[in-house]
Parts: sequence; C-alpha cells; structure tokens
Amino acid sequence: MFHLNSIQDLTETQIDALISLAEEIVRDKAKFREACRYKTLATLFYEASTRTRLSFEAAMHELGGNVIGFADAASSSATKGESVADTVRTVACYADIIVMRHPKEGAPMAASLKSPIPIINAGDGGHNHPTQTLADLFTIYKIKGRFEKQTIGLCGDLMFGRTVHSLIRALSRYNDIEFVLISPEELRLPDYLKEDSLNRSNVTFRETEELEGVIQELDVLYMTRVQRERFFNEADYVRLKDRYILTRSMLRNAKEDLAILHPLPRVNEIAVEVDDDHRACYFSQMLYGKYMRMALLMNMLEVSL
Ligand code: NCD
Repeated sequence: MFHLNSIQDLTETQIDALISLAEEIVRDKAKFREACRYKTLATLFYEASTRTRLSFEAAMHELGGNVIGFADAASSSATKGESVADTVRTVACYADIIVMRHPKEGAPMAASLKSPIPIINAGDGGHNHPTQTLADLFTIYKIKGRFEKQTIGLCGDLMFGRTVHSLIRALSRYNDIEFVLISPEELRLPDYLKEDSLNRSNVTFRETEELEGVIQELDVLYMTRVQRERFFNEADYVRLKDRYILTRSMLRNAKEDLAILHPLPRVNEIAVEVDDDHRACYFSQMLYGKYMRMALLMNMLEVSL
C-alpha cells in the first residue's frame, strides 16, 4: 500500500505507466467498466473543489466502483471537533481508498500516518497538488509527445499556487527543461522550492514580472489564478488579482505550437476570447485529469483487468 502525498512519491517510470494506462482507458473505456467493482472511494474535501472532486468521483463511477464522502467540512464531524486522523480511521471502515483536500499544509500526509487504507492528497493548502500534476503531465504529453527539451512559463501566483509547486517538482526531473517564472514580486516562487527542486537538479530558471517580454520563447504557458483564500489581506489580493490577463493580441508573438494550460478555475487570467485559439488546452486538460485519476485509482487499489 502506498499514499500519494507529493508527485515525488511517483518515479518517472511510474508516471509513464500511469500515462500508458490512461491512454488504454481512453482507447477502450468499455473494457474498464468493472475494473473497480466492489471498491469504494471516499472523497473528504475540507476545502472547495469542482474538478478534482468530481473527476475523482466520475473516475470511480466509470470504473464500476462506489463513492462516498463529503464536499464540505461543515457537514462532517470536523465541526464537532473531530481530528482528521479520527475521521480517517472512521472512513477506513467504509472505504478502500481516500482522496483528501485540506486547507492545512501536510494534513493528508499526517492523516496517512494513521490510515490503514491509501490516501491521495487532492491539494493541501499552498503546498502540493500531485493529481493536478498528473493531469498537467498527461496534457503536455498528449500535445508535445515529450517532457524533455521545453521552455515552460509559469505565470501568476507562484507563491501560493500548489499546482505550480507540484508541476515544478515533476518537470525538474526531466532533461533540458527551462523554467520562466512570471509573477509579481510579492508572489514569487518560495525559496525552498528553488533550492529543493531547481538548484538541486541544476534546472535553468529565470524570474520576471513581464509576461509579454517572454511569451515568444515559451513551449508551454501555465497560467494560474491569484489564490485569494491564502491571502492575509483583501487589499493585497485586489491589487494583485488582475496583474496578468492573457489576451488574443498577446498571443501574436507566441509560438504556433505553444500549449496554454491552466488548472482552473479561471477568474480573469485568461480572456474568454483565447478559448477559441488552437493553443488553448485548458479544457482538454480537465478531461485528461479524469483519465489519469482512473489510472491512479486502479494502480493504488492494485486492481488490473
Ligand atoms: C487548483 C487547486 O485547487 O489548487 N484547482 C484544481 O484543483 N484544478 C487551482 C486553483 O484553485 O487555483
């Protein structure tokens, strides 16, 4: 049994295997209709979610399994003061695997120490979001056919954006990756990530505040929203929230095969007019996320056909 706390819990070989399985599922969905029959997924969401929770639930349904859970901590015994560890012990009596999102960094990891069943981190505060990274990697793979040799621009809230943190950890392991970190001064990537992931792996990176000055160099542009819920002060959020808005005219200088990704939800970071551009990949990205989650559930539940 293993838990998925961070994308580094998976080797590159394991990620390749998940991608192969996801591709097989896309090719022949009917074949997997009963793969998780009699298995139950519990979704414990202490923080808001649309795509992550629903794609996990859809993934389990499409594999023939069952789903239980809560979408809001307010409807759980957390409101009575129950610890996450005790909730996990309880849920382990009713389910085979848990997907947990929590506003506190490390909460799913702490829970996994007490859990008799596998736990998947579906986002812990401003820390990690490994299954979004699986969706991002599958999208990049489908569009580019490779992870190596690319210039990746990450734009927006690099300080609190957990999807960015996990994606950097994942892509830093491949050869000839160059990152362009585009953010306001106040929302720069935390130093611990620069040390742990970038410097340690000798990855080339550059920081800038200007998206327009670098857009022509990029193979992938990963836009993110400013993470309002992690701010201490509303005035700072209001000042920074519209710092980057990707418009069609800004794409004039971009490469023809640029891939524009966004984990969603989008607020204002990408103008709606960009949705029709052939380089916009963020809607297929969320569909790819479901297939990767199907592959992950099968793998962690140790089921095969
Ligand atoms: C992301 C998250 O929750 O971190 N959403 C998602 O899971 N697709 C990104 C965000 O909320 O900005």
